[in-house]
Amino acid sequence: MPAPLRVGLAGLGTVGQGVVKLLREDAAALALKAGRPLPLARVVSRTPRPQVALGGAPFATDLAALIDADDVDVIVETIASADADAALAAAKGLLAGAIETGKHFVTANKALIARHGDALVAAREAGIHVGFEAAVAGGVPIINAIAQGLAANRIEWLAGIVNGTCNHILTAMARDGQGFGAALADAQRRGYAEADPTFDVDGIDAAHKVAILAHLAFGAPLALDRVHVEGIRNIDAEDLAGARELGFRVKHLGIAERGAVPRAHPCLLPEDGLMAKVDGVLNAVQVHGHAVGSTFHVGPGAGAAPTASAIVANLIEIARGAPPALPAPAEDVATAPIGALRCRHYLRIPAADQPGVFAQCAELLSRHDVSIESAIQRGAIQRGGAAADWVPIVILTDAAQEAKMQTIVAALGGLDGVAGPIQRIRVADFAGAV
Ligand code: HSE
Repeated sequence: MPAPLRVGLAGLGTVGQGVVKLLREDAAALALKAGRPLPLARVVSRTPRPQVALGGAPFATDLAALIDADDVDVIVETIASADADAALAAAKGLLAGAIETGKHFVTANKALIARHGDALVAAREAGIHVGFEAAVAGGVPIINAIAQGLAANRIEWLAGIVNGTCNHILTAMARDGQGFGAALADAQRRGYAEADPTFDVDGIDAAHKVAILAHLAFGAPLALDRVHVEGIRNIDAEDLAGARELGFRVKHLGIAERGAVPRAHPCLLPEDGLMAKVDGVLNAVQVHGHAVGSTFHVGPGAGAAPTASAIVANLIEIARGAPPALPAPAEDVATAPIGALRCRHYLRIPAADQPGVFAQCAELLSRHDVSIESAIQRGAIQRGGAAADWVPIVILTDAAQEAKMQTIVAALGGLDGVAGPIQRIRVADFAGAV
């Protein structure tokens, strides 16, 4: 059998432990698939975890022990920290060290890939393979699908539930009628959401992932600041109920369309589509290619074993000499700004419970040449035991441009009969979606 691919592991948190378990328990089967053994040669972790059996691999607490090692061929980076910037800095240093010492590199760190695309280019120029399958959608092999399996296609768009925390919270809100705060607290109690949920619920995690996917799909620059980001904090249980009455579900999506700004934000999805049925912490990505049509990829987006599955798949690719996804060639597709986006919109307008308010809203939309596809006026909402003196008007518009809808929402807010901030959620309408 050819020489082993010797693995140096950085980080012994949940994911790192998952990698150790998979490499050790399935060593023989993995060696057969890889064509050579994948021994765990060294482990480095800031926090020693003597309870984790390392099979005799030397342990150290200093990352230099991996960079300087001459018995390591590939570094697996799974550094976890409550301080995401510190974890990113450590991962970046490790990648630089790997490039310098000629080691391949596999990482689960989406920020490293989404924010430091230059390091990927430097690695390629140095002949270093960088695997990042685990950085997007955990165990779902979406990087491989786009870069390899769908490589013959001109990708037109992709859209996905790429943050399990948001999906879990929205699913719980829809199922139990809970508000966002209660659903988040519940997710935290169950260990699905971090103590600091900002990264997830404000859409930042999904934005990192969509930046990576847009790069692979269209050669878009790996630049997080080009992604339009909105989270789910202002989604109300009333929106989930209103959307359902109109025949939709609300999901937080990462979206990359050829020629449009990549974006991460809540969306209404037709209830009979596959994506609307993906609930809980599952991730799913739909990719539309000109030759294949729509493909749908679903599975666990996080967790020790699913993430280890993606990492070890990259190790097998490297062992076979078939590099994982390369930085995509820049296609230099012109990108229209978010204001040029055109789609249907859901509006929820808190209206004074008095005659004529709906008519005022409809007249304003008509004045801006935006048609109403359907509308619901629901009964007064019980808040704190008493019926509020306003009622929600829910409107589904025909397709209209984003910039125009922003103007309309501002104007609606100025109407006398409108009692509070207006909710606007885009409808995800993609040609060829399944
Ligand atoms: N925090 C992410 C999520 C998982 O909630 O989906 C890691 O990417």
